[in-house]
Amino acid sequence: MNRAMVLVFLLFCNPGIVQFLLAEDNPIVTETEKTQTQSGCSPDMQNVLTELGAMREKVGALENRLKEAEKHIEETKSKERKRVIFSAALEGSGSIGPFTTDTTLIYKKVLINIGNAYNQYTGIFTAPVTGVYYFTFFYHSGGSKRTSLSLIKNDQFVTMTYDHQTSHDGADNGGNAAFVQLQEGEQVFVRLGADTHVWSTSNISTFSGFLVSQG
Ligand SMILES: *[C@@H]1O[C@H](CO)[C@@H](O)[C@H](O)[C@H]1NC(C)=O
Repeated sequence: MNRAMVLVFLLFCNPGIVQFLLAEDNPIVTETEKTQTQSGCSPDMQNVLTELGAMREKVGALENRLKEAEKHIEETKSKERKRVIFSAALEGSGSIGPFTTDTTLIYKKVLINIGNAYNQYTGIFTAPVTGVYYFTFFYHSGGSKRTSLSLIKNDQFVTMTYDHQTSHDGADNGGNAAFVQLQEGEQVFVRLGADTHVWSTSNISTFSGFLVSQG
């Protein structure tokens, strides 16, 4: 309600009306008080004031309904907000590879897997919801052989990390990362290139990802 309007009415009416109109937090306004208050005004003014009182009650009721609706929307949203976060490391006691063909790396040691979208038995991440995901893969390997790791979405190449074969370089470390748009059910994994190798010990080579935003 417009407080300025209320003040205008006060110039013409019994000041007791203030209590009635402004008592938003004080529901204890008796019928007697209302009657006494209104008897100080002209009939037209009394009608206006009665209307204002009714409007105030309506606005109050609407405010409560709006608050309830907002609460309901928030609750629904937080239920729909999906959490998908994983990190897994290669497991073993030395080198994986080289193999004669490209091979999907299976990061068997799960560090975290909220939402269970990463499968530690196949090495494959499957998007549980459509959205933008962020993936990283870091590795260590001996420098005497090549290393080639590619991030693959379904059967498409996304990005890679690579190190040449050298005789003077004892060890290689590398990695890469990418934001990837996925539809629900699409798959992402890391592929070890043919004739290359990667080190598996000490959780040193990892594959991680998380859902950045849904949709
Ligand atoms: C690798 O990570 C797992 C899971 O957090 C942990 O239990 C294990 O001790 C780690 N291994 C090494 C060698 O740090």
